[in-house]
Amino acid sequence: MSDYKNMLVTGGAGFIGSNFVKYMLENHPETRIINLDLLTYAGNLENLSDIEDNDNYVFVKGDIKDAELVNKLFEDYDIDSVVNFAAESHVDRSIEEPEIFLTTNVLGTQNLLEAAKKHWQTGTDEEGYPTYKDNVRFHQVSTDEVYGALGKEGMFTETTPLSPNSPYSSSKASADLVSRAYNKTFKLPITITRCSNNYGPYQFPEKLIPLMIGNVLELKDLPIYGDGMQVRDWLHVKDHCSGIDTVLQKGEPGQVYNIGGNNEKANIEIVDLILENTKKNLENNSYEGIDTNPDEISEELKIHVRDRLGHDKRYAIDNTKITTELGWSPSYTFEDGIAETIEWYLENQDWLNNVKSGDYLEYYENMYSNR
Ligand code: NAD
Ligand code: TYD
Repeated sequence: MSDYKNMLVTGGAGFIGSNFVKYMLENHPETRIINLDLLTYAGNLENLSDIEDNDNYVFVKGDIKDAELVNKLFEDYDIDSVVNFAAESHVDRSIEEPEIFLTTNVLGTQNLLEAAKKHWQTGTDEEGYPTYKDNVRFHQVSTDEVYGALGKEGMFTETTPLSPNSPYSSSKASADLVSRAYNKTFKLPITITRCSNNYGPYQFPEKLIPLMIGNVLELKDLPIYGDGMQVRDWLHVKDHCSGIDTVLQKGEPGQVYNIGGNNEKANIEIVDLILENTKKNLENNSYEGIDTNPDEISEELKIHVRDRLGHDKRYAIDNTKITTELGWSPSYTFEDGIAETIEWYLENQDWLNNVKSGDYLEYYENMYSNR
């Protein structure tokens, strides 16, 4: 078991990163968290407002590609662990603008790896490999999308060949390969986790679940790509955080671990569930800032739009390795997790409205007007 003293969390103002920062402060008060985030459209300090004064937390606005800054952070804070969440994360955006996915996700990761190698190296062994300080770890947060798409049968295991289909997933696969290379060639202690689709509080409403909840509340069309029969394997973000923590504590350097909660659902099922659940909530409760009439929430809001290019049909994670080797298991059932998540968005209208201000409407129009 390792207690890290100074952990650099990148992308900690995004959806999963902000949940992880809070998870760590709560579960590992011995660890100081240094959150490096560029605050792109997806980064939001409001996600962290309840912990911003915590003595064990430091926020730094900056780019993971900035070598000078990253090296200075390693020096100033004596960083002994890195958890790299920072990324461009949305498949649809990667289809519109691939370049930034490659620069942030691949070159940004390599810059962090290089800084870790430089600051943690203590010498060289007789074969010429670098040696490192004790108890250091670089953790790369990856995705099941690097494995490509499944048909009706089968699941992704850690040995499934990488076969990414979108610019997003190809950039994440590339980052995994660069991380692997730093482990093989330089023996840097690296672990990688590949996780399925996350859901939960603070997710930017360009992703399926918060987008649909927001649209239901505005009685806006619910754009279902193609036939809506594509399958995703959903995991509550807090279970993802505990999975990463387990790997940081017990995972073997050089290893990849899948994290998934055995919750395959077709997109159309998710949309139906959101419609039904939101309507019921509004019938039974009142929520500050919401005046949507539940009687107007109906199936009619669903529309089928042009399919995403290269749309992956199905993802499903085999989590045997992390459950049997490291003893991790998810704590949420999907039913409880999604109910709690819908409730969270209903109770946090200010948050949702704030993230939907600025350039969001323009993004939304561009993404959906020509489908
Ligand atoms: P997100 O888009 O909500 O957050 C990304 C964060 O990274 C933002 O705060 C953004 O400001 C920051 N960022 C972007 N470019 C940066 C840069 N150059 N330097 C510093 N910070 C930068 O993403 P998320 O959904 O929280 O995903 C986090 C990580 O988890 C990503 O690496 C993603 O690939 C991976 N992942 C996500 C899911 C999912 O379902 N969301 C599933 C598996 C893996
Ligand atoms: P998304 O949340 O973007 O995650 P990912 O593409 O990384 O899996 O999308 C989840 C699924 O929902 C995916 O199959 C695409 C689909 N989808 C829609 O049908 N309509 C939408 O408006 C969005 C955003 C996604």
